[in-house]
Amino acid sequence: MNLLITNIRQLINVRENPRLLRGKDLAELPLIEQAYLQISGDRISGYGSMDSIDKRIPVQNEETWDAGGAAVLPCWCDSHTHLVFAASREAEFVDKIRGAQYAEIAAKGGGILNSALRLQETDAETLYQQAWLRLQELIRLGTGSIEIKSGYGLTVESELKMLRVIKRLKENSPIPVKASFLGAHTYPLQYVNDHQGYIREICEEMLPVIQSEKLADYIDVFCENGFFSVPEAETVCRAGMAIGLRPKIHANQLHLSGGTQLGVALGALSVDHLETMDAAAIEALAGSDTIGTLLPSAAFFLRMPFQPARALIDSGCAIALASDFNPGSSPSGNMNLVVSLSCIQMKMLPEEAINAATLNGAFAMEMGEELGSITIGKKANLIFTRPIPSVAYLPYAFGTNLIDRVMIKGGFI
Ligand code: NIG
Ligand code: FE
Repeated sequence: MNLLITNIRQLINVRENPRLLRGKDLAELPLIEQAYLQISGDRISGYGSMDSIDKRIPVQNEETWDAGGAAVLPCWCDSHTHLVFAASREAEFVDKIRGAQYAEIAAKGGGILNSALRLQETDAETLYQQAWLRLQELIRLGTGSIEIKSGYGLTVESELKMLRVIKRLKENSPIPVKASFLGAHTYPLQYVNDHQGYIREICEEMLPVIQSEKLADYIDVFCENGFFSVPEAETVCRAGMAIGLRPKIHANQLHLSGGTQLGVALGALSVDHLETMDAAAIEALAGSDTIGTLLPSAAFFLRMPFQPARALIDSGCAIALASDFNPGSSPSGNMNLVVSLSCIQMKMLPEEAINAATLNGAFAMEMGEELGSITIGKKANLIFTRPIPSVAYLPYAFGTNLIDRVMIKGGFI
């Protein structure tokens, strides 16, 4: 079907040649005021200002729809989530309110191990149904592409179960899904004193099945003091790379773990979290093609210092924003909130935050040619807002749902 959408007050992030944005370019958010947009099938096929609508090439079998002064922007590209999990963890949330620390909870078998236990006892169908509902909710909140990690299985059987659930989501989801294998999320209890034993299990038992069933696009490791050291993370990443999985690493969340430099050295697609950065880590990232993915809702929920977004941008790093949706450190996958937090707490400009949550997020899933901007030929996954006075109003009115409707593959959901 061909659709002509008229009366768009702001058509946001319009680009002829989209590329990964860094430095000053991140603050450039090209838009057309009073615009029209053409959709053919599931793709964007044209756009322009309402003044020039009569000059466009006529299209056969076209329906017209009046957007009523909505702002239209590409859907959020959420490049870091743990969407598949078996149970929420609000008891830990209350423990933390009462004063318990993240590391303390983890040491008592809570945290990731708690999620792993629950996932191990939950069947694949239930996991799929739960994740499917979460995915539908995120789409209604404007997410139009998503990365999903394993990492709550931590046994051969359960990691593969989780990855097969993600594969099924990928096959059935209306939005593109990328899968990351995060078997190296933490050491299961029986391997706490035998790290090499678990790493062998990852490399020799999990990865071969992942390769033969094509269960993952990326390899991820939680590189952190008390979790996977730099040499351990490197071993796992290299084993993944040997079967074609590019690294996306959990780095520099709680400590200066060296994860950022490791990611850069391995040519990782992204290093994610980055709450704890020093000049050396920033410099390494700035001089690389690795994307720094900031997860402000995790910092917010864990009451940690936010990521140093200004220093990263001003040093020339390419940064993306993602939700980290998971039951332990970010029980929300709402990218509208992520964008607001980035402006409020990390002093990102609204233009920077929107670019980082759309185009750069798409590049952090290797979908920058397909999604993340208003570009002819790109997939029509779009957010239509209630009328807003300006782009800055989006992050400014935090907590207000400004999304009026969401279009996926050229159709309204
Ligand atoms: O990205 N940092 C490590 N992993 C997840 C959350 C872990 C959990 O508590 O379940 C994260 O924040
Ligand atoms: Fe994460």
